[in-house]
Amino acid sequence: MLILITGTRTGVGQALAQQLLDRGHQIVGCSRRSATIEHDRYRHYEVDLTRADQVRSLFTAVRREYGYLDGLINNAGTSTMNHFMMTPGDVSRKIFELNFFAVLDCCREATKLLQRSADPPSAILNVSTVAVPWALDGQLVYSASKSAIEQLTRVMSKELADFEIRVNGIGLPPVRTVLTRTVSKAKIDELIRRQTINRMCSVEDIVGPVEFLMTQQSAFVTGETLFLGGVN
Ligand SMILES: NC(=O)c1ccc[n+]([C@@H]2O[C@H](COP(=O)([O-])OP(=O)(O)OC[C@H]3O[C@@H](n4cnc5c(N)ncnc54)[C@H](OP(=O)(O)O)[C@@H]3O)[C@@H](O)[C@H]2O)c1
Repeated sequence: MLILITGTRTGVGQALAQQLLDRGHQIVGCSRRSATIEHDRYRHYEVDLTRADQVRSLFTAVRREYGYLDGLINNAGTSTMNHFMMTPGDVSRKIFELNFFAVLDCCREATKLLQRSADPPSAILNVSTVAVPWALDGQLVYSASKSAIEQLTRVMSKELADFEIRVNGIGLPPVRTVLTRTVSKAKIDELIRRQTINRMCSVEDIVGPVEFLMTQQSAFVTGETLFLGGVN
C-alpha cells in the first residue's frame, strides 16, 4: 500500500513508518524538519501542516509523483500538559491548528487521491488518546482537540462512504516520545495502572492494529476509534 503518514520525523510517526516499511508498504512522510528515515520506499516532504497552502502543495506534489494514495495516517500532533487557567489562548489555538484543522485539511486534500486507489476501499486513520475517555485533568485543550478528531472520524466516515474511503481512529495510551518527555514517571505509572493491560505501550503494540485498520482486513470497519491497552 502507498500510505502517507504525517509527523514522521520523531516518535510514533517515525516508528510506524519504519515498521510499515519493514512490512513492505511504500511510505510518504512529512514534518517541518528534514527526514530521519532513509529507505528506497520512503519519501519525505518538509511541510508545516498548520499552513493550509503548504498542505495543498504537499498533496499536489504527491499527486504529481504517485497519482494516488491508498491510505492517510493523521499522526502529527502536539499537546500542552497544563491547567486550562495557565494555558494562554494562543497556545490553545495552536494546538487546535495542528490537532484538528490540519487533519481536516489533510483529509480534504487526500480524499482526491484516495479515490484513485487501485484497491478500494482506501483508508484514513486518525490518532487519538486515552486522555479523551479518561477526561484527564491538565490536558483540557489537548483532549478537547482529540475529542473533536473522534467526532470527525464518526461523521467523515459517513461523508466519505460513497467515495469508498473508510475513516477510523486509534486511541493510544502513553508511549515514550518527545511529546511525553515532560510527563513525570510517577504520572506515566499512574496512567499505566489505569490500563487493563498494566505495562507501557510499545510501537510493536501499535503497528498491528494500525496495519489492520489501514488494510482490507478491516474492509467492513469504519467510523470507529480503537483504544489500545484497555481503557474501561
Ligand atoms: N506519545 C504518547 O504518549 C501519545 C499518547 C497518545 C496519543 N499520542 C498521539 O500520537 C501522535 C504522535 O505523537 P508523538 O508522541 O509521536 O509526538 P512527537 O514525538 O512530538 O512527534 C510529532 C511529529 O509531528 C511533527 N510535527 C509537529 N508539528 C508539526 C507541524 N506543524 N507540521 C508538520 N509536522 C509537525 C514533528 O516533526 P517536526 O518537528 O519535524 O515538525 C514530529 O515528527 C500525536 O497525534 C499524539 O497526540 C501520543
